[in-house]
Amino acid sequence: MALEFSPETLKAFEATVARYPKKEAAMLPVLYLAQREFGHLGPEAIEYVAKLMDQAPARVHGVVSFYTMYNMKPIGRHHIQVCRTLPCALHGAEEVTGFLKKKLGIDCGQTTPDGRFTLTEVECLASCGTAPMMQVNDDYYENLTEEKIDQLLEAMK
Ligand code: FES
Repeated sequence: MALEFSPETLKAFEATVARYPKKEAAMLPVLYLAQREFGHLGPEAIEYVAKLMDQAPARVHGVVSFYTMYNMKPIGRHHIQVCRTLPCALHGAEEVTGFLKKKLGIDCGQTTPDGRFTLTEVECLASCGTAPMMQVNDDYYENLTEEKIDQLLEAMK
Protein backbone atom coordinates (compact mmCIF):
# COMPACT_ATOMS: atom_id res chain seq x y z
CA MET A 1 0.00 0.00 0.00
CA ALA A 2 1.31 3.44 -0.92
CA LEU A 3 2.30 5.76 1.91
CA GLU A 4 -0.10 8.48 2.90
CA PHE A 5 -0.75 10.73 5.87
CA SER A 6 -3.31 9.76 8.47
CA PRO A 7 -6.34 12.09 8.64
CA GLU A 8 -4.78 13.84 11.70
CA THR A 9 -1.47 14.44 9.94
CA LEU A 10 -3.28 15.60 6.81
CA LYS A 11 -5.06 18.18 8.98
CA ALA A 12 -1.73 19.26 10.49
CA PHE A 13 -0.28 19.47 6.97
CA GLU A 14 -3.09 21.78 5.81
CA ALA A 15 -2.73 23.96 8.91
CA THR A 16 1.05 24.16 8.40
CA VAL A 17 0.82 25.11 4.73
CA ALA A 18 -1.80 27.77 5.54
CA ARG A 19 0.71 29.56 7.78
CA TYR A 20 3.07 30.32 4.88
CA PRO A 21 2.66 32.73 1.96
CA LYS A 22 3.73 30.00 -0.50
CA LYS A 23 3.26 26.25 -0.15
CA GLU A 24 6.93 25.67 -0.97
CA ALA A 25 8.00 27.69 2.08
CA ALA A 26 6.40 25.06 4.37
CA MET A 27 8.78 22.34 3.13
CA LEU A 28 10.79 21.89 6.35
CA PRO A 29 7.84 21.55 8.78
CA VAL A 30 5.98 19.34 6.28
CA LEU A 31 9.00 17.04 6.07
CA TYR A 32 9.08 16.96 9.85
CA LEU A 33 5.41 15.87 9.88
CA ALA A 34 6.22 13.20 7.29
CA GLN A 35 9.15 11.89 9.31
CA ARG A 36 7.01 11.71 12.43
CA GLU A 37 4.33 9.82 10.53
CA PHE A 38 6.53 7.44 8.52
CA GLY A 39 9.52 7.04 10.86
CA HIS A 40 12.03 8.00 8.16
CA LEU A 41 12.04 9.69 4.78
CA GLY A 42 12.78 7.00 2.23
CA PRO A 43 12.06 7.24 -1.52
CA GLU A 44 8.33 6.54 -1.13
CA ALA A 45 7.89 9.23 1.53
CA ILE A 46 9.87 11.71 -0.57
CA GLU A 47 7.67 10.94 -3.57
CA TYR A 48 4.54 11.45 -1.46
CA VAL A 49 5.72 14.77 0.01
CA ALA A 50 6.77 15.96 -3.45
CA LYS A 51 3.28 15.30 -4.75
CA LEU A 52 1.66 17.08 -1.76
CA MET A 53 3.98 20.07 -2.14
CA ASP A 54 3.74 20.28 -5.96
CA GLN A 55 7.49 19.84 -6.21
CA ALA A 56 9.82 17.51 -8.11
CA PRO A 57 10.96 14.54 -5.98
CA ALA A 58 14.60 15.51 -6.70
CA ARG A 59 14.02 18.86 -5.03
CA VAL A 60 12.52 17.25 -1.92
CA HIS A 61 15.37 14.73 -1.88
CA GLY A 62 17.84 17.62 -2.00
CA VAL A 63 16.28 19.19 1.12
CA VAL A 64 16.07 15.89 3.01
CA SER A 65 19.67 14.97 2.27
CA PHE A 66 20.96 18.43 3.27
CA TYR A 67 19.64 18.51 6.85
CA THR A 68 20.81 16.05 9.50
CA MET A 69 17.44 16.25 11.28
CA TYR A 70 15.87 14.16 8.53
CA ASN A 71 16.53 10.43 8.38
CA MET A 72 16.59 8.79 4.99
CA LYS A 73 17.03 5.30 6.44
CA PRO A 74 15.11 3.56 9.24
CA ILE A 75 16.56 4.43 12.64
CA GLY A 76 16.65 2.74 16.03
CA ARG A 77 14.14 3.34 18.83
CA HIS A 78 16.60 5.74 20.46
CA HIS A 79 18.27 8.09 18.01
CA ILE A 80 21.40 9.46 19.67
CA GLN A 81 22.69 12.61 18.01
CA VAL A 82 25.96 13.94 19.39
CA CYS A 83 26.79 17.57 18.63
CA ARG A 84 30.26 17.87 17.10
CA THR A 85 30.43 21.62 16.43
CA LEU A 86 33.32 23.65 17.89
CA PRO A 87 32.06 24.51 21.42
CA CYS A 88 31.04 20.88 21.98
CA ALA A 89 34.24 19.67 20.29
CA LEU A 90 36.32 21.76 22.70
CA HIS A 91 34.47 20.19 25.62
CA GLY A 92 34.99 16.57 24.59
CA ALA A 93 32.38 15.75 21.93
CA GLU A 94 34.83 13.42 20.21
CA GLU A 95 35.37 11.50 23.47
CA VAL A 96 31.58 11.29 23.96
CA THR A 97 31.13 9.85 20.46
CA GLY A 98 34.05 7.46 20.98
CA PHE A 99 32.61 6.27 24.27
CA LEU A 100 29.17 5.71 22.70
CA LYS A 101 30.70 3.83 19.76
CA LYS A 102 32.52 1.52 22.16
CA LYS A 103 29.49 1.01 24.44
CA LEU A 104 27.06 0.36 21.56
CA GLY A 105 29.49 -1.50 19.30
CA ILE A 106 28.52 0.58 16.28
CA ASP A 107 29.95 3.42 14.22
CA CYS A 108 28.29 6.75 13.44
CA GLY A 109 25.45 6.29 10.96
CA GLN A 110 24.77 2.75 12.20
CA THR A 111 22.02 1.10 14.24
CA THR A 112 22.56 -1.63 16.83
CA PRO A 113 21.47 -5.09 15.56
CA ASP A 114 18.59 -5.14 18.08
CA GLY A 115 17.23 -1.90 16.59
CA ARG A 116 17.50 -0.02 19.89
CA PHE A 117 20.08 2.66 19.14
CA THR A 118 21.19 4.70 16.14
CA LEU A 119 24.26 6.90 16.56
CA THR A 120 24.74 10.08 14.54
CA GLU A 121 27.01 13.11 14.74
CA VAL A 122 25.24 16.41 14.07
CA GLU A 123 26.02 20.10 13.93
CA CYS A 124 25.19 22.65 16.65
CA LEU A 125 21.95 21.96 18.51
CA ALA A 126 21.95 25.44 20.09
CA SER A 127 22.87 24.27 23.55
CA CYS A 128 26.53 25.27 23.37
CA GLY A 129 26.61 26.54 26.98
CA THR A 130 26.05 23.01 28.25
CA ALA A 131 28.64 21.27 26.07
CA PRO A 132 29.24 18.46 25.47
CA MET A 133 25.68 17.53 24.69
CA MET A 134 23.53 15.19 22.66
CA GLN A 135 19.92 14.81 21.65
CA VAL A 136 18.10 11.49 22.03
CA ASN A 137 14.84 11.52 20.09
CA ASP A 138 13.25 14.81 21.27
CA ASP A 139 15.24 15.27 24.51
CA TYR A 140 18.52 17.04 25.23
CA TYR A 141 21.20 15.59 27.55
CA GLU A 142 23.83 18.10 28.56
CA ASN A 143 27.17 18.48 30.37
CA LEU A 144 27.81 14.86 29.47
CA THR A 145 30.24 12.62 31.29
CA GLU A 146 30.90 8.91 30.77
CA GLU A 147 29.05 8.21 34.00
CA LYS A 148 25.97 10.16 32.84
CA ILE A 149 26.01 8.39 29.48
CA ASP A 150 26.21 5.00 31.22
CA GLN A 151 23.17 5.88 33.33
CA LEU A 152 21.23 7.12 30.30
CA LEU A 153 21.94 4.02 28.24
CA GLU A 154 20.88 1.86 31.17
CA ALA A 155 17.60 3.79 31.48
CA MET A 156 16.91 3.43 27.75
CA LYS A 157 17.10 -0.36 27.74
S1 FES B 1 28.19 23.51 19.64
FE1 FES B 1 27.16 21.85 20.51
S2 FES B 1 25.22 22.66 20.96
FE2 FES B 1 26.23 24.28 19.95
